[in-house]
Amino acid sequence: MTIHIGRELGSFERTRRTRRSAALRGLVRETRLDPATFIYPLFVTHGVDVRQPITSMPGQSRLSLDQLEREASELRELGVRAVLLFGIPASKDPEGTEGYADTGIVQQATRVLKRADPELVVVADVCLCEYTDHGHCGLLTPTGEVDNDPSLHLLSRMAVSLADAGADIIAPSDMMDGRVAAIREALDGAGHEALPIMAYSAKYASAYYGPFREAADSAPQFGDRRGYQMDPANAREALREIAIDEAEGADIVMVKPALAYLDVIARVRAQTDLPLAAYNVSGEYAMVKAAAQQGWLDEDRIVLETLTSIRRAGADIIITYHAKEAARWLTEGRA
Ligand code: PBG
Ligand code: ZN
Repeated sequence: MTIHIGRELGSFERTRRTRRSAALRGLVRETRLDPATFIYPLFVTHGVDVRQPITSMPGQSRLSLDQLEREASELRELGVRAVLLFGIPASKDPEGTEGYADTGIVQQATRVLKRADPELVVVADVCLCEYTDHGHCGLLTPTGEVDNDPSLHLLSRMAVSLADAGADIIAPSDMMDGRVAAIREALDGAGHEALPIMAYSAKYASAYYGPFREAADSAPQFGDRRGYQMDPANAREALREIAIDEAEGADIVMVKPALAYLDVIARVRAQTDLPLAAYNVSGEYAMVKAAAQQGWLDEDRIVLETLTSIRRAGADIIITYHAKEAARWLTEGRA
């Protein structure tokens, strides 16, 4: 029964939602998921025929280069058009040398993927923590502090070598001060003026990165990342970080993690006209997978609801380990 409260209400407010047809609901839906807005993270590793499952991220694996062509064609079929690459190097050292070697694992993976599918958008993560033996995102001083300015030089080198390998977007995740400007200048100097930068601008020092650090074997060997990542208690500071990265030349800005920071996403959305990405990180993925494995929640509905909330908060782009399954569910009409 429809309760008429008064003519001040429009027809939609006077209509029971359950009585709207599917077509009418679709017509007035405010937020939609589209696999074209997903970025799928991939962990690439040395070796042959490797598909090594990541225990804390059920469904995700470390892949060797020979597995990437199959991955690219699967993504193409699903309508997921972008990947974000992380590398597990053959060896680590204090300077993270493999991160900026032209023969580095991500440089090689980029070439393989671009050969397999030239239209696939390859986003290259730029950070030293996967490549340093101490596991920090930059170089260290002799006393073990992160040494900001010398780190910029290596991060810039890494960005240029990834650009040379054919990356379509450079994504610095290190949180060093001044990195966007330094990387922009280095890219311009190397003839990559048109290559966009997606900056991990508001990256919080979060416990939600736990499973990723297992996947990339990148947990800091001592201390933590609170010296360069943001305090989860701060939202206004995120707006300043976004403004700084924008001024330094970022083309896309990012909030990370996503779910515990939807308010930050909404506030950033209101502040900038740049495309905004949100990273639905490893811990968010692992929580859903763990509960679903127990049969404690309805996985496909939870995932699509979560991704919808990230879009509703204002993100244009969602980086998510759920990209492939979500794309599949969406084509099956489970939205
Ligand atoms: C490296 C990096 C991290 C993630 C992306 N790039 C981890 C960290 O800062 O410790 C986390 C991604 C995830 O948890 O899914 N700087
Ligand atoms: Zn890092």
